[in-house]
Amino acid sequence: AAMLAVGAQAADFPAAGRTITIVVPFAAGGPTDKVARDLGEALRKPLNGATIVIDNAAGAGSTIGSTKVARANPDGYTLLLTHIGMATTASLYRKLPYKYSEFEYLGLVNEVPMVVVGKPALAANTWPELKSWIQENKTKVNLANAGLGAASHLCGLMLQQALQTEMTTVPYKGTAPAMADLMGGQVDIMCDQTTNTTPQIEGKKIKAYAVTTAKRLMIPAVYKDLPTLQEVGFKNFDVSIWHGLYAPKGTPAEVVKAINTALQTALKDPDFIKKEESLGAIVAHDDRVTSEGHKKFVAAEVAKWGPVIKAAGQYAD
Ligand code: MLT
Repeated sequence: AAMLAVGAQAADFPAAGRTITIVVPFAAGGPTDKVARDLGEALRKPLNGATIVIDNAAGAGSTIGSTKVARANPDGYTLLLTHIGMATTASLYRKLPYKYSEFEYLGLVNEVPMVVVGKPALAANTWPELKSWIQENKTKVNLANAGLGAASHLCGLMLQQALQTEMTTVPYKGTAPAMADLMGGQVDIMCDQTTNTTPQIEGKKIKAYAVTTAKRLMIPAVYKDLPTLQEVGFKNFDVSIWHGLYAPKGTPAEVVKAINTALQTALKDPDFIKKEESLGAIVAHDDRVTSEGHKKFVAAEVAKWGPVIKAAGQYAD
């Protein structure tokens, strides 16, 4: 009976008929939303065929969505999919109602490189041309991002620091609406994740100039001739965005375990892997898809991003 009880305890999540909500703290159609929808699809089977819905709770650089999950019932039916912004925004917002360490860490999902992209009408076609255009035009350049604390904001910060040129930043509720304006020419450039840029570059709807990862990780052909920012002289420029899955603090350990086990299975799903790799992303594996590995990784990333944000000295509230 004891064995059965333990088995039954772990197996009664998710309960039949219950819906699991994955909160995405950015607008629908963007890179975070894309990963969440593809992951939700891959999680269904390992979570006993549960219905998984995506809730886009966008705004304030992902802090609105993160707060929503921090305050949700810790029963495993409300999860958060987000990236390092959930942790770094802590130093940009003075009055956050949560600490990034106060979540249950369910495992890392993927790594997504970023790309510096521009509107189609930009004269610059190469990184050197873009660099001089930015340094000539300074605050006349409109740099789009998804709000203070977003990955696109943090990458834009590093870009301005590397070029020693301040640009005008234009915040959106996600890089999906930002991308629409970039393609329409309302903004000039952006630093965004390959999960959002790949289809637009392949469709020649935007221009691409450089990748932000130290190594050229991504598979799609459109990246093979793009320099890395390290290759064009920015020695320590190495930005890639890691998405993790979180539950509210206090979610029962056996529920955390059940979700982590389902995540490990989902990340081995060939369909999910193919979708991710076709968009230049790399699926997480091994110890990063454990609670401990995930938590350790985020702590190291916060240590890395802290100085970049301090140097920006911006506060959102
Ligand atoms: C970001 O810049 O943090 C993300 O690209 C926002 C999004 O997923 O829309």
